[in-house]
Amino acid sequence: KTYNVAIMGATGAVGQQMKEQLEKRNFPINQIVFLASSRSAGQKIEFKGETYTVQEAKPESFEGIDIALFSAGGSISEKFAPEAVKRGAVVIDNTSAFRMDKEVPLVVPEVNPADIAQHKGIIANPNCSTIQMVCALQPLKEKFGLNKIVVSTYQAVSGAGINAINELKDQAADFDNAPNADAKVLPVKSAERHYPIAFNAIPQIDQFTENGYTFEEMKMINETKKIMHDDTLSVAATCVRLPVVTGHSESVYIELEAAPTLDEVKQAIAEAPGVELMDDPSNQVYPMPLMAAGLDEVFVGRIRQDLDNPRGIHLWVVSDNLIKGASLNSVQIAESMIEQGIV
Ligand code: A2P
Repeated sequence: KTYNVAIMGATGAVGQQMKEQLEKRNFPINQIVFLASSRSAGQKIEFKGETYTVQEAKPESFEGIDIALFSAGGSISEKFAPEAVKRGAVVIDNTSAFRMDKEVPLVVPEVNPADIAQHKGIIANPNCSTIQMVCALQPLKEKFGLNKIVVSTYQAVSGAGINAINELKDQAADFDNAPNADAKVLPVKSAERHYPIAFNAIPQIDQFTENGYTFEEMKMINETKKIMHDDTLSVAATCVRLPVVTGHSESVYIELEAAPTLDEVKQAIAEAPGVELMDDPSNQVYPMPLMAAGLDEVFVGRIRQDLDNPRGIHLWVVSDNLIKGASLNSVQIAESMIEQGIV
């Protein structure tokens, strides 16, 4: 069987990767439609050797579509996802619009694929930082029990879209002339103040919430509990933007229920689906965003036992935020739906 697929936000940083993933994984496509705003309608996109024209998204664009992959921003999802569902499509939404909605499954196929069956038309793709972290921690949770997570992120600008990538490149190229370059996009477009990202580190991703955490930090906290089905799991996050184009890194401290040996922890990571152990300090082997960019896996290294707590483990987790953090996970959700006979 083949499916009619739409990509909403096809010209964006994630949308382009969605197209690549569908191509690379030979997704069973009957027809494909590329949707964006009127700004880029008419633009050409190559898919499997054929040329397609980007169309302006309208409610009618979803007529006859089986699966719609959305990555055009939360407000666009709020407006168009119900229109797509009304016309019979299943929406896999990469924005934060529906993630915490009780009616909407929030899915990482390596962790909670069975949740997909509960969908009512929309399935949410988690935040990029959350996805790579839960992939790395799920095997440890299954084997040793998981009580607590403290994570600090080192996030790439591509998570903030193509304009943020361009801002970093422009500021870096002009750094000697304008070290305090005018910033317009980061830390977040809608913020009152903007700061340069080139050669900087910005401890703000998205806006602040009332409790002093940013929305990005609260996404990691709330989404992790929802995906792992554990409201009692203790999670704290600090999210930081770095001048990296692609690939998020995370320093993760966890407290387990059991007190496994370091080898047992490494073996659990090595056996986990979608995760690759890359941990050989004697040969300076550990994951970095530059090597992870363009690859599917979640890489884990620098695994250490805490020096004071026998149940405490430290890890370093790196993955391509546009691939496993967004496009690949969305396409895997679609593949899992097909496998489970849900679409
Ligand atoms: P467009 O190229 O027409 O602006 P990014 O996150 O990289 O900035 O990409 C955002 C994506 O969302 C782009 O494909 C962008 O298309 C799309 N988009 C933005 N606003 C709309 C809209 N009003 N309707 C449809 N697509 C939109």
